[in-house]
Amino acid sequence: MSKAPRPEELDPIERASRDEIEALQFTRLQDTLQRCYANVPHYKRAFDEKGVHPDDLKTLADIAKFPFTTKHDLRANYPFGMFAVPRQQVARIHASSGTTGKPTVVGYTKNDIEHWATLVARSIRAAGGRPGDICHVAYGYGLFTGGLGAHYGAEKAGCTVIPMSGGQTEKQVQLIQDFKPDIIMVTPSYMQVIIEEFRRQGLDPREMSVRIGIFGAEPWTEQMRRQIEADAGIDAVDIYGLSEVMGPGVANECVETKDGPVIWEDHFLAEIIDPETGEVLPYDPASGTPEGELVFTSLTKEAFPIVRYRTRDLTRLLPPTARSMRRMGKIVGRSDDMLIIRGVNMFPTQIEELVLQTEGLSGQYQIVVSREGTLDEVDVLCEVLPSAAGADRGAIAKHLAHRIKTLIGVSTRVQVGLPDTIERTLVGKARRVIDKRPR
Ligand code: DLL
Repeated sequence: MSKAPRPEELDPIERASRDEIEALQFTRLQDTLQRCYANVPHYKRAFDEKGVHPDDLKTLADIAKFPFTTKHDLRANYPFGMFAVPRQQVARIHASSGTTGKPTVVGYTKNDIEHWATLVARSIRAAGGRPGDICHVAYGYGLFTGGLGAHYGAEKAGCTVIPMSGGQTEKQVQLIQDFKPDIIMVTPSYMQVIIEEFRRQGLDPREMSVRIGIFGAEPWTEQMRRQIEADAGIDAVDIYGLSEVMGPGVANECVETKDGPVIWEDHFLAEIIDPETGEVLPYDPASGTPEGELVFTSLTKEAFPIVRYRTRDLTRLLPPTARSMRRMGKIVGRSDDMLIIRGVNMFPTQIEELVLQTEGLSGQYQIVVSREGTLDEVDVLCEVLPSAAGADRGAIAKHLAHRIKTLIGVSTRVQVGLPDTIERTLVGKARRVIDKRPR
């Protein structure tokens, strides 16, 4: 049986022409801008300040005339100031915790929750999930959008849902063994932890029932995909999203191509901008856009419509392949996560790629940045696999440091520890970088 859904299982818009998609985007965008201007004081002010009115939108490209929205704007309107409907029509609240200060609060009407579930269900189908599958959800439930977002979508897709949430790794393994899920939805870093727990219990993770992993909420590399697929004998598919724009399911990869998440363009308008100048980067139908910052405008959201939200995520828009809608490249990193070490720009994902390519290492790593005198120092902490516990760790460290220097251009101090010495993140997003430099 083919892994991909049959054409008749797709939503018709997934197969529509570019003209049809853009026509739908245009009417939905007009409506969104009008609602923002009429109902959200922040947008009225920001549009007026920029001298632009919703009626000025004559083509999709006119979106570039409208102001960006940033996390700062959401914080300034904390908690409910960005809502475009009376609070009584808001059926649910989610929030994402920032590293500092107040969380970013988002709201959903009943229709918003319905659309969200529809898009996560579409995402699960794209990943190869089918009605009747058992879906184990190990994203955290609560204010984080991962758990409940995946949950409603999996129900909508006709799955039997196991609302396990994050943490309790031994129990995760027990339930996977006993309930035999077909699909797991979890962060890629926690999937690694689950795989290790299988092995710790003397079980072969390749024997697990799961055939599809739908991984997201944090950057992960192609190398990590290959490793998880080999370790667990599954298809690993990328799901992207952010609470400000909806939650998981803004974009999802198709299992038959695994070539970057397809953006569900009937609900979201994507742009790539130069993060320095804010200029929209040109889209070439053959090759997509250059790399830049992803910006989203919601097209159907009622409670919390968002105009030109600057995600800080760096990637490219890519031409359509398995669906009519355009794709995004794998996220390279967030502009806030970029490390500038002695003048060289570096992303944690670049280190991840090399750690995972190094034989004998477990794939767990942490990057510690500190300042000694006037110079920034980078320590890359990793560990050997239990099966390589007797290996020459000094030699592995030297080899990895050499590759980092050659391929990324940064001198680092690599330390290779014994198995299980790197701290695992059991709930939420993996913390890969510890920056000890004075602010
Ligand atoms: O992480 C929503 C989500 C939950 C997505 C479960 C996928 C699965 P936030 O907590 O608001 O929402 O964080 C959003 O996480 O701007 C990216 O930086 C990062 N992110 C999310 N998905 C991916 C992905 C959820 N597939 C922020 N690849 C985003 C890389 C991702 N980064």
